[in-house]
Amino acid sequence: MLHHLLNISDITKTDLEHILTVAGNIANQPSRFCEVGKGKILATLFFEPSTRTRLSFESAMLRLGGGVIGFSDMSASSSAKGETIEDTSRVVSSYCDVMAVRHPTAFTPHKMASVATVPVINAGDGANEHPTQTLTDLVTIRQRFGRLDNLTIGLCGDLKYGRTVHSLIKMMSRFKSNRFVLIAPDKLQMPREITRALDRDGVNCRVTGDLEGAIGKLDVLYMTRIQRERFEDKSEYEKLSGVYILDKEKLAAARRDMIVLHPLPRVDEISTDVDGDERAWYFRQAQFGVYARMALMIELLGLSAAADEIAEERRVVVARPA
Ligand code: CP
Repeated sequence: MLHHLLNISDITKTDLEHILTVAGNIANQPSRFCEVGKGKILATLFFEPSTRTRLSFESAMLRLGGGVIGFSDMSASSSAKGETIEDTSRVVSSYCDVMAVRHPTAFTPHKMASVATVPVINAGDGANEHPTQTLTDLVTIRQRFGRLDNLTIGLCGDLKYGRTVHSLIKMMSRFKSNRFVLIAPDKLQMPREITRALDRDGVNCRVTGDLEGAIGKLDVLYMTRIQRERFEDKSEYEKLSGVYILDKEKLAAARRDMIVLHPLPRVDEISTDVDGDERAWYFRQAQFGVYARMALMIELLGLSAAADEIAEERRVVVARPA
């Protein structure tokens, strides 16, 4: 059973199947799950800015009937007075049933989990991983295609510092016959330790700098922002920013059944003239993030039986003849 979610590899295929099924059931009728988390408290400890992850986590727990505590700014916590991350974790464990942690330094949620007495969820750690974004992405891809295998997925932009694409490729490469096109400037390509592992596993992976040349063969185009905050040399960022901009003209070369995803926030890498296109799925993707996080917390809090019962009741009601 899943205890913490720190790396995407923590999730077995069985866990994933259950989380995605529960998320799909919730997406069909969210209000039916409004008491599953009654009495439970989520703590959101965000040491780095966020709109979607923090608010979708909070919305998820409130929609499950639970409560939320937390902070969204390191300066508003006792870390600013020198408290260690481990002490914060020990103390907050006694105030909540599950905690979601975002931190600019990789592996901080892992350190917190090592002393926590409640499940810890990695809500983004530096340039390392963002596993709950991947759950969101998977819920979205499955809603659109009805499957997670045999897809050609283009990852475009900042593949070096973009934690969302690190988690996504690690998970999607576990599904049969998926193919990846890594579209980035040389300086922002996927870290070697990730591509080496994919090579070892025989994953079909092509590296290119050419978005226009690749777009026509994709089922999913996953755009990412150049991660300004991760560059030590800001002049390097200036040179690379704006390197890929998906606009209506470039999208014209894509298949009609492709979808465009983006973890958001965007800066300029998707032109707003794409937003109205039926292939632009990134705002829907953000909405699915609430259902994915509701399903994840159900799993971590041991509430699966109650959620499954609700889904089963619905099936019985739907199936009953008039
Ligand atoms: N996708 C994502 O992580 O967005 P936020 O930084 O707004 O949480």
